[in-house]
Amino acid sequence: MPSNESEAQRATTITIPAGVAIIGTGKAKPGKVVTNDDLSDSIDTNDEWISQRTGIRQRYRMTEDQNVRSLGVDAVNEALTNAGLKATDIDLLICATMTPEMNCPSTAARIVAELGAVPAGALDISAACSGFVYAMNLGYSMIKAGGYKTVAIVGSEALSKAVDWTDRRTCVLFGDGAGAAILQATDRPEAGCLYQTMGSNGEGWRELYIPRCEDHIPENDNGVFSGAFNTLQMNGREVYKFAVSTFRKCVDHTLAATGYTVADLDMIVAHQSNARILESAREKLGLPEDKLYINIDRYANTSAASVPICLHELTEQNRLKPGNLVLFIGMGGGLTWGSSLWRL
Ligand SMILES: CC(C)(COP(=O)(O)OP(=O)(O)OC[C@H]1O[C@@H](n2cnc3c(N)ncnc32)[C@H](O)[C@@H]1OP(=O)(O)O)[C@@H](O)C(=O)NCCC(=O)NCCS
Repeated sequence: MPSNESEAQRATTITIPAGVAIIGTGKAKPGKVVTNDDLSDSIDTNDEWISQRTGIRQRYRMTEDQNVRSLGVDAVNEALTNAGLKATDIDLLICATMTPEMNCPSTAARIVAELGAVPAGALDISAACSGFVYAMNLGYSMIKAGGYKTVAIVGSEALSKAVDWTDRRTCVLFGDGAGAAILQATDRPEAGCLYQTMGSNGEGWRELYIPRCEDHIPENDNGVFSGAFNTLQMNGREVYKFAVSTFRKCVDHTLAATGYTVADLDMIVAHQSNARILESAREKLGLPEDKLYINIDRYANTSAASVPICLHELTEQNRLKPGNLVLFIGMGGGLTWGSSLWRL
């Protein structure tokens, strides 16, 4: 319950804004770099196999003192600083993660507390690698509906805690990390999300899942389950096909619905699943190299953190300007996918 009137008003004053702007971004890099050669010391793999098939050269792993909350807090703090805001300006915080420490409480509620943003609203999104794009869509829509002025969105992942380190098929692919953005109501009517989609097909759940017990293992598992519960299991080939077709569908659908063309896009910020998937999609679209950001070589796949880390690095490099047209795309476990077309 709100402890005073001003707290109660944080979520009850309805003012429909003209637009919504991304006013600050941030990221958190875990303390330890793990190269492909480091991995080949403990499992039967090598730099050539990993880098040729995925584009990954290294990934970050949390140190003992880091966790999914602390990475989230660091990323949001940097985003707040870049936005010129303080934690108490946040009305609502949405955390996308597939690696929460607990199912209850949400990771978001603890990030809010650790930021000093109480009593901001807090909720987690469980949409795997699509999570941050879902958070962008939700954050935008919440602000546009007029109930919230400032929404912090963060993708934070502790995937090193959720892979089977003896399974070379999966463990080489993932990394830890976090990225965040601050969305805020603006009087610029052109700014905001012009078109959004969120989709799912739970029939494909078994292609990418984290089983807790024997009952969760599908009957015809096709040798996917590594034998370790509570770790990520993936049918790489099926997920590859899903990612290739979903990326293309997200682009085509967005352009058909809005009337824009590929040439109108200033940037595509996509989930970093595999450099081969991204590069071949870019070539087929006829999109120049500098309009699809790729950093999987340094981070590996950080699930819900990959899109906001890319967004922050592009911002740092001054490659995004007010007025730019940017398409965000995410896809992953569920199966889920989402897209969000923004006029910055
Ligand atoms: C995972 C992925 C890189 C595997 O590539 P692939 O070309 O399909 O490789 P395969 O799984 O067919 O394995 C080929 C061989 O390499 C071996 N292999 C698997 N992992 C290996 C590793 N880390 N190092 C060395 N060899 C490996 C396999 O055992 C297999 O050997 P075999 O032919 O003797 O049986 C690829 O399927 C992929 O990128 N999938 C999508 C993953 C993704 O995007 N996930 C996140 C979605 S959000």
